Amino acid sequence: MTPAVGDSPPLLEARGISKAFPGVQALAGAGITVRSGRLTALLGENGAGKSTLMNILAGVFPPDAGTIALDGRPVAFRSPREAQAAGLSIIFQELNLVGGLSVAENIVLGRQPLTPWGLVDRHRMHADARDVLAMLDLDIDPATPVGRLKVGTRQMVEIAKALSLDARLLILDEPTSALTEHEVETLFRVIRRLKDRGVGMIYITHRLDELPRIADDVTIFRDGMLVHEAAFSARDRAEYVRRMVGRDLADLYPRSPSSPGRPLLQLDGFAVARPAGGQPLVADVSLAVHAGEVVGLFGLMGAGRTELMEAVYGLHSRATTGRVRIDGAEATIRSPRDALAAGLALAPEDRKADGLVLGMSIAENISMASLDAVTRAWIVSRRGEARRAAEAVSRLAIKAATTAQATGTLSGGNQQKVVLAKGLACEPRVLLLDEPTRGIDIGAKREIYSLIDDLARGGMGILVASSELPEILGISDRILVLAEGRVTAEFARGAATEQAILHAAIPPQRPPAAVA
Ligand SMILES: Nc1ncnc2c1ncn2[C@@H]1O[C@H](COP(=O)(O)OP(=O)(O)OP(=O)(O)O)[C@@H](O)[C@H]1O
Ligand SMILES: [Mg+2]
Repeated sequence: MTPAVGDSPPLLEARGISKAFPGVQALAGAGITVRSGRLTALLGENGAGKSTLMNILAGVFPPDAGTIALDGRPVAFRSPREAQAAGLSIIFQELNLVGGLSVAENIVLGRQPLTPWGLVDRHRMHADARDVLAMLDLDIDPATPVGRLKVGTRQMVEIAKALSLDARLLILDEPTSALTEHEVETLFRVIRRLKDRGVGMIYITHRLDELPRIADDVTIFRDGMLVHEAAFSARDRAEYVRRMVGRDLADLYPRSPSSPGRPLLQLDGFAVARPAGGQPLVADVSLAVHAGEVVGLFGLMGAGRTELMEAVYGLHSRATTGRVRIDGAEATIRSPRDALAAGLALAPEDRKADGLVLGMSIAENISMASLDAVTRAWIVSRRGEARRAAEAVSRLAIKAATTAQATGTLSGGNQQKVVLAKGLACEPRVLLLDEPTRGIDIGAKREIYSLIDDLARGGMGILVASSELPEILGISDRILVLAEGRVTAEFARGAATEQAILHAAIPPQRPPAAVA
C-alpha cells in the first residue's frame, strides 16, 4: 500500500499511533491509510483499539505518539470541530445525538441556518433536514425529538448528520449494528454514491459478510497494533479472521442436539397494547420455551420482538394482557423485580438506555439485578460481588483492566458482554436475550454461542431475538417469526431456510420490495 513514485499522497495516513489509558495500552503502533473514493475496512477484536484510533483522528483526544497526515500534510486536530472544518466527519459507535433536541436540530447542530434577524431559521432548517433524510429514504418528521426514536433510526439520523457536513473523509464506526436490512441497503447505496464523489471512508464492522459489497482496502488491528494492510479480497476471509483472533475458528455455531424438557415459559393470548392506541404492538401470542431449548425469535423492525420480551419481563405491565406461566405455575409479572423473582432475566437490546449504568463499575453493573432479586441478602458483600464479577469477566472474556473499571470506558463489544453477564448473574430459569451479539467480534460471538449451548444443556430455557438470520438459524432449536406483533410461522431446526423465514416476516400488505 505504499504509493508508487508519482502517486498522489493518500487522503489520510496515520502511522505509529500509540495511546495508553490507565491500566491499558489501547494502541501501540497502529496506523491506517485511506484513499479518495475508496473505503478502508477496519477489523479487529473487541478492545483492539479501533474506536480509540477513530477518536484520535477526529480530534477527541491526542495520541501519545505517532503522526497523522491529511493530503500528505501533517495535522493535529485539537477538537472534533477542527477535524470537521478540515473535512473529516465521524459517526461514533456510541451514538452522540442529543435526545431532547429534534431530528433537524441534531442534524444541523452548531450550524443552524439563521434568518436575517439572527434567529434560527426553522423553516430552512427543517427543509435542509428533509433533504438529507430523503437521501436516506427516511420518512421521519424533522421535528421529532431524537430521544423518541429507536436505536436504528437514531443511527440513521447520525448518518444524515454526517452527510449534511459534506465531508471528504467519513468515519463509520459499526454503523450497521442497529440497522434493519432495508436501512443497511440504503446506507450501502449512499456509500457507493459518496465514493463516486471522491469521499474516502473508514468503515469499522464485525459483520464480515458486509465487506464484499463495500470494501476496497482492509486494515486489521490486534491488541492495539497494525497487523495487516492490503487491498480487500473476499477470498481472504478466513485469513482475516485468523489475523484478528490469532487462530482458526472452527464451526461458528456449536449447537448440541437437544431434547427439550418440560415447558418453563408459557404465554397464552399474550398482548401488548400500543400506548397511543391503534394496532397492538404484540397481539395474541402463544408460545412455549422448554427446559434445555433455544427458541429463536425473528422479525423485521417494528415486528414487536423487543416489546414482547420487555413485556414478559414486566416492563409494560399496564399495557400487557394474557396468561404467563413459569415452570407450569401461573405468574403475575408487573415489574422486572417480579420477573427476576420468578426466574426470568432479560439482556436488553439497547445497552445504553436500559442495560447498563455507564458510570458504575463492571462489578456493580453485573450484580445489580441479581441483588434486587435476592431479598434475603441484607448486606451487599463487596468481596462476593467482586468475585462473581471476576468469574463473569473470565467466562465471557471481557477485556478490562479490573472489575472496578467504569463500564463506560470499555469498548463497545465489551459493554455488550457486561449486559450478558448481568443477565446471567441472576441465575435465571428462563433467559431472554435481545440481540445478544450486537457489536461483538467473531471470536467472542462463537464463545457466546457456545455459552448459550452450555446453558441450554444445563436445563435453562432461552428465548433469543436476533435480526441476523444466520445467527438465528445457527443457534435455535426452534424458530418463531413475528410480523406486526403476531407469530406468523414456526420452524423446527433444520426445516427453516432464510427465504422461508423472510417470507413469513414480511407483513402481508407491504410489498416485498420494501424489505429487500
Ligand atoms: N476512556 C477510556 N478509559 C480507559 N480505557 C479506555 C478508554 N477508552 C478506551 N479504553 C480501553 O482501550 C481499549 C481499546 O478500546 P476501543 O474502544 O478502541 O476498542 P474497539 O477496537 O473499538 O472495540 P469494539 O469492537 O468492542 O468496539 C479497551 O481495552 C478499552 O477498555
Ligand atoms: Mg469500538
